[in-house]
Amino acid sequence: MELKDKVALVTGAAQGIGKTIALKLAANGADVAISDLNMEKLNETAKEIIDLGRKAIAIKANVADSKDAEAMVEETINKFGALHILINNAGITRDGLILRMKEEDWDAVLSVNLKGVFNCTKAAVKYMSKQRHGRIVNIASIVGEMGNAGQANYSASKAGVIGLTKTVAREFASRDITCNAVAPGFIETLMTQALSEKVREELAKQIPMGKLGAPEDVANAVLFLAGSGGDYITGQVINVNGGMYM
Ligand SMILES: NC(=O)c1ccc[n+]([C@@H]2O[C@H](COP(=O)([O-])OP(=O)(O)OC[C@H]3O[C@@H](n4cnc5c(N)ncnc54)[C@H](O)[C@@H]3O)[C@@H](O)[C@H]2O)c1
Repeated sequence: MELKDKVALVTGAAQGIGKTIALKLAANGADVAISDLNMEKLNETAKEIIDLGRKAIAIKANVADSKDAEAMVEETINKFGALHILINNAGITRDGLILRMKEEDWDAVLSVNLKGVFNCTKAAVKYMSKQRHGRIVNIASIVGEMGNAGQANYSASKAGVIGLTKTVAREFASRDITCNAVAPGFIETLMTQALSEKVREELAKQIPMGKLGAPEDVANAVLFLAGSGGDYITGQVINVNGGMYM
């Protein structure tokens, strides 16, 4: 029970990687506040956390809205009395080649994926600084490191998350707040199930390990960084990509 007596907050935890992370943290002893826009699915995640014997609260919050982010952190602290671990996972895609990409698709992706991480981090570090302890893990992407045709908005947002991660790490290291990014490669979720079979086969050929990853692979890296394994690690990007980018 690596995370016994710890309180974690996971954004975008209604499904996919965020849900798997929330359940992994709970299975390792943490009480978990989860947030998303999709309350129906989020409540299912909360039920599964409770079934693991931990406490859970499900909070409706749009990470792109700073007021929502502040209220989400406040509710977590009011209900659980602390906040030790923040996982910034909520993210969206609005893909298209640059010449066809609409301004609103650029803005939407940057608002959720980058400003969302800023909003939630700012709200959490206010409290974590006083507590003199915190573990923040941001879910970036391989695409933020390599670029990807058709994902100008997404790759820029994830590259931004990596820069933001390093700055948060520098600003708060003296308060025992670490901040790291996990950069997944291509992982089997609804986000990647939207790709055609042909694209998925082509992708797998580019991955030295020859297959897409599972949400569990990402959650394992997050658990390591959020637990004692990450105590002296900050400002790093941990790649979970089957060797696709080295
Ligand atoms: N699936 C992959 O291959 C892959 C690869 C690299 C990085 N990632 C990143 O991992 C994270 C999770 O991805 P996933 O594949 O599980 O995606 P997903 O679409 O299955 O889940 C994302 C969740 O975020 C929620 N969300 C979206 N906008 C939100 C907002 N404004 N406020 C709060 N919640 C919001 C959604 O409702 C959804 O539940 C994302 O940041 C994504 O960019 C995914």
